[in-house]
Amino acid sequence: MFAMLAVTDLRKSFLSPEGERVEIVQVPEFSLAPGEQLALRGESGSGKTTFLNLIAGILAADSGRVTVDGTEMTALSEPKRDRLRADKLGYIFQTFNLLQGYTVLENVLLGMSFGPRGADRAHAREVLERVGLGHRLNHFPRQLSTGQQQRVAVARALANRPKLVLADEPTGNLDRKHARDALALIREVCREQGAALLLVSHDEEVLAQFELRKDFAQINGAATPSSPENATGASRPQSGPRFPAQSQTRP
Ligand SMILES: Nc1ncnc2c1ncn2[C@@H]1O[C@H](COP(=O)(O)OP(=O)(O)OP(=O)(O)O)[C@@H](O)[C@H]1O
Ligand SMILES: [Mg+2]
Repeated sequence: MFAMLAVTDLRKSFLSPEGERVEIVQVPEFSLAPGEQLALRGESGSGKTTFLNLIAGILAADSGRVTVDGTEMTALSEPKRDRLRADKLGYIFQTFNLLQGYTVLENVLLGMSFGPRGADRAHAREVLERVGLGHRLNHFPRQLSTGQQQRVAVARALANRPKLVLADEPTGNLDRKHARDALALIREVCREQGAALLLVSHDEEVLAQFELRKDFAQINGAATPSSPENATGASRPQSGPRFPAQSQTRP
C-alpha cells in the first residue's frame, strides 16, 4: 500500500554536555497511510519532537530514510527539503512559533508564501474563518488568548492544504475544554482536506480520542533517559506497551 509517510532505519543522536553521544531516535520502521490519523504517546524527553523534526526535515538525520508522499526527504539538499516541507507538510509546533511582529492574517500569509499556491489572501481568510478567527485577522499574537494563538497555528499549518500534518503536543498549553475543541478542530480540518495526521502527546485525554495510537517507545528503539531517575544512571524500567492490543492491521 502507498504510504504518505514512510520511515526506515532512522537514527539521530546528540552530544551531551559531557561530550557523550546519546542516541535519541532509532526507528526501524514507521508509516502512515494517506488520510490516516495516528497519535503517538511518549514520555517527556523520549524524543518525540526530535522525531517530528526529522520527519519534517528541519533536523538532519544521522542515517536512515524519510519518504513523504513518494519523495525521499532524507536524500534532498537543505533547500530542496525546505521546498518539500512547504509543498507537502503542515507543522503545528509545541510552542506555536507565531511571528509576534505580524498580525494573525500575516502569519498565515507568510506560511503560505513558501508553499505551492503562494500568499492567497482570500484563502487565508477562509481558513482563519474556518478556525473561528474571522474577527481577529488584524490582531497581533500577543493580543490573543492562548487558545486563539493555537488556532492561528492550526490555520497556518493547514493553509497550504498539506498532505501530511505533524502536531507536536498541540494542546499542551490549553485548558481541558479548549484542548478538546482544538483537537477536534485539527482532526476535522485534516479530514476535510484529506491530510494525514501524526500527533505526539503525553496527555492521556488527547490520546484517548484517537482510534489509532501507538506508544512511541514501541517504535523507537533508542534507550533515551526520559525521567530524572533515568538521567542519573538508573536503568529504564521496561514498561512495555501502554495501550491494549492495537486494532491496527497494516501490512
Ligand atoms: N539539540 C540538542 N542537543 C542535545 N540534546 C538534545 C537536543 N535536542 C534534543 N536533545 C535531547 O533529546 C532528548 C529528546 O528531546 P525531545 O525534545 O525530542 O523530547 P520530547 O519527547 O519532545 O519531550 P517533551 O514531551 O518534553 O516535549 C532530550 O533528552 C533532549 O535533551
Ligand atoms: Mg517535545
